[in-house]
Amino acid sequence: MSSRVPTGIEGLDALIEGGFLRGDVILLAGGTGSGKTIFSTQFIYNGAIQYGEKGVYATFEEDVKTLKRNMLKLGFDLEKLEREGYIRILDLEALKSEGLSENIRFILSTLEEINGKRLVIDSLTAFLSACAEKFEYRMLMHLFYRMLKLKGYTTIMTCSVPTGAKALGLGIEEFIADSVLFLENITEGLELKIRFLIRKMRGTNHSRKYHNVIITDKGLQIVPFTA
Ligand SMILES: Nc1ncnc2c1ncn2[C@@H]1O[C@H](COP(=O)(O)OP(=O)(O)O)[C@@H](O)[C@H]1O
Ligand SMILES: [Mg+2]
Repeated sequence: MSSRVPTGIEGLDALIEGGFLRGDVILLAGGTGSGKTIFSTQFIYNGAIQYGEKGVYATFEEDVKTLKRNMLKLGFDLEKLEREGYIRILDLEALKSEGLSENIRFILSTLEEINGKRLVIDSLTAFLSACAEKFEYRMLMHLFYRMLKLKGYTTIMTCSVPTGAKALGLGIEEFIADSVLFLENITEGLELKIRFLIRKMRGTNHSRKYHNVIITDKGLQIVPFTA
């Protein structure tokens, strides 16, 4: 099994030595509408379709129906992949009242059940809201992180940050993130654009430049900076 886990996202893998490191936890931070959900969906979708790796997508922000509808518009038929057993989509809104540790247990057992290799939590911000106690969630997330590593599940956790914010404000990123990626909304003239930055990626000689991001009806792509 390769130590690199390709995302299959156009323009990205070449910037990160071919992909994420297996078992890494990647924080994908960005403002609203910056493409976090599309990016994460492509990681799971491409994993199943192109690389034969099953995945679990835990959605906390959008309900499953909305997510499937939005992604289908971009050509990602999650419903079909799920029916064929390649992915599982978990609507954690339903589980929220059970608390953080129960949600973590549920995610891990689903990965085990389908022999998954990839996981998305969209978003970590909402996921953590299932836990009122900051002290408790630090401990639980630490255990969760160790478990993901041990099992080699490569994970994207999305994180909503207000425009312009440079810190994530979770208080746990220093020990649960092997990598931090930013999708930033910026205004250029009269136009709203998105740019991408790899803030940190352990064990990887990664690009340190800002790259433009384009979202079309075929999904999200990163435009490698050349110059
Ligand atoms: N067909 C499309 N063509 C161009 N842009 C699109 C298309 N579909 C969605 N988008 C863009 O993607 C954004 C939503 O991306 P999403 O991944 O849901 O953001 P986030 O999860 O970061 O809030 C929309 O606000 C819109 O700008
Ligand atoms: Mg989203």
